[in-house]
Amino acid sequence: MFNIILFGPPGSGKGTQSEKLIAAYGLKHLSTGDLLRSEIAKQTVLGLEAKSIMDRGQLVPDAVVVGMISSALDSNPEAKGFLFDGFPRTVAQSEALDKLLEGKNTAIGVVLALEVSEEELVHRLLNRGLTSGRSDDTNEPVIRARIKEYQDKTMVVSDHYSRFGKVVKVKGEGTVDEIFASLCSEIDKRMSL
Ligand code: AP5
Repeated sequence: MFNIILFGPPGSGKGTQSEKLIAAYGLKHLSTGDLLRSEIAKQTVLGLEAKSIMDRGQLVPDAVVVGMISSALDSNPEAKGFLFDGFPRTVAQSEALDKLLEGKNTAIGVVLALEVSEEELVHRLLNRGLTSGRSDDTNEPVIRARIKEYQDKTMVVSDHYSRFGKVVKVKGEGTVDEIFASLCSEIDKRMSL
């Protein structure tokens, strides 16, 4: 089993690249943002509580997202590996993920960290907000709040995995195909070890 964390700030291209990577490597895509938006669409209690937090650009509580990931791991016993997108986003989430994977005799193979300038992130997300229907994309202060949450709480997750030599920085600006080729090259190097 080969497990990947696709890491990076809001708008860095995690969702875009995840679609291509799961097709290329046959991995199971686990996006906590998508899981939360599905709860919102179904109007569950969890979804309604998460929506107000997401609309402010803040992180939902660790226990909520860890619970969702734990269920998703249990529901996919046949997976060849997992591609985590938007998770983990705090040190507590990364420690919980490590334990969950250890319980399944596996671990994170690589953390691919997409690097994109803040102005490009804001430009991409405002642009997507014109058509996406995502309420957290439509106003700049909320987009900046999401980026600040990333800087304050999520960037340290990369330090957690750096200690184990698992983090690779990848330039996240350029065409989607160029970035995809860089990501594949890093994955191929590690999968063949
Ligand atoms: P989530 O859904 O994870 O959103 P995000 O991290 O803010 O990321 P995005 O989906 O906005 O961006 P992305 O990096 O996937 O980029 P994308 O490919 O879409 O989280 C939303 C919220 O849910 C959070 O704020 C939080 O409240 C909550 N949440 C989720 N997970 C959580 C967790 N683990 N813990 C706590 N709370 C959690 O691309 C963006 C745009 O750029 C698109 O329009 C795309 O077409 C375009 N684009 C992509 N690549 C390129 C390129 N190379 N050049 C130009 N444009 C490009």
